[in-house]
Amino acid sequence: MIDSALIEAVKKRLNDAGRVAVLTGAGVSAESGVPTFRGTGGLWKNFRAEELATPGAFARDPELVWQWYNWRRNELKALKPNPAHTAIAAMEEAGSGFRLVTQNVDGLHALAGSKDIVELHGNIWRSRCTGCFEIKENRELPPELSDIELPYCAKEGCGSLLRPDIVWFGEALDQGVLTRALEAIDSAELIFVVGTSAVVQPAASFAMRGKEMGAYVVEVNPGDTPISDYVDTRFQEKAGVVMPLFI
Ligand code: OAD
Ligand code: ZN
Repeated sequence: MIDSALIEAVKKRLNDAGRVAVLTGAGVSAESGVPTFRGTGGLWKNFRAEELATPGAFARDPELVWQWYNWRRNELKALKPNPAHTAIAAMEEAGSGFRLVTQNVDGLHALAGSKDIVELHGNIWRSRCTGCFEIKENRELPPELSDIELPYCAKEGCGSLLRPDIVWFGEALDQGVLTRALEAIDSAELIFVVGTSAVVQPAASFAMRGKEMGAYVVEVNPGDTPISDYVDTRFQEKAGVVMPLFI
């Protein structure tokens, strides 16, 4: 049962707040059919994300890592934003001083119409050259996901191996991206933390950092997380059910 008085109270805060930040994780895409990393269906060929999403794994076996990303890209290509993505896009539309910070790489927030998006971990629909660092949209998939053709940079004189434009475990976040995220967190009066297990840094610390800076923090997650006991309000429900209620 969702407490409707609590929904109204948060809605009022949303309407009154000059600055709002929304921080999302894999759970916001779960209702679109994207498996979360730490839920069931998060494994591929028995590998955990932490075993494949690393520079070491890519150096050892780029075919395997590309095969995993192509499998995920293939799963994602037909998926659509769900009511949580749409509600978050509508929040941005409704007021100024809104910023979305996401750990998701699936591109569904943009598809739903969100515009000011800080993609902390990159985007699965882009590649980055390991030689010249050029970033390009990459929506192409091999006809057979099992036969891997490694992609190479088309730039004259380069020809280096391309990698997914994703921040892997052990890699630092892009400084500009991190700055934009922290600006949003530090200045927010209201922060929604939606569908993240709050265990992968630095995003895991954002909500509590925001709270220390004076923000009112609302968690939307059917499960428990390390921050659940510390937020101001929590809705232990699916994002696609709760987020539209604020609109
Ligand atoms: P996780 O898979 O760790 O956590 C997903 C969270 O979503 C859990 O807390 C679930 O309880 C919650 N959840 C599930 N269904 C939900 C729903 N319908 N509505 C709301 N919440 C729901 O995913 P992240 O926290 O995003 O990094 O993981 C963080 C990072 O670890 C990812 O960005 C990825 C991963 O490895 C990289 O790929 C670099
Ligand atoms: Zn290149």
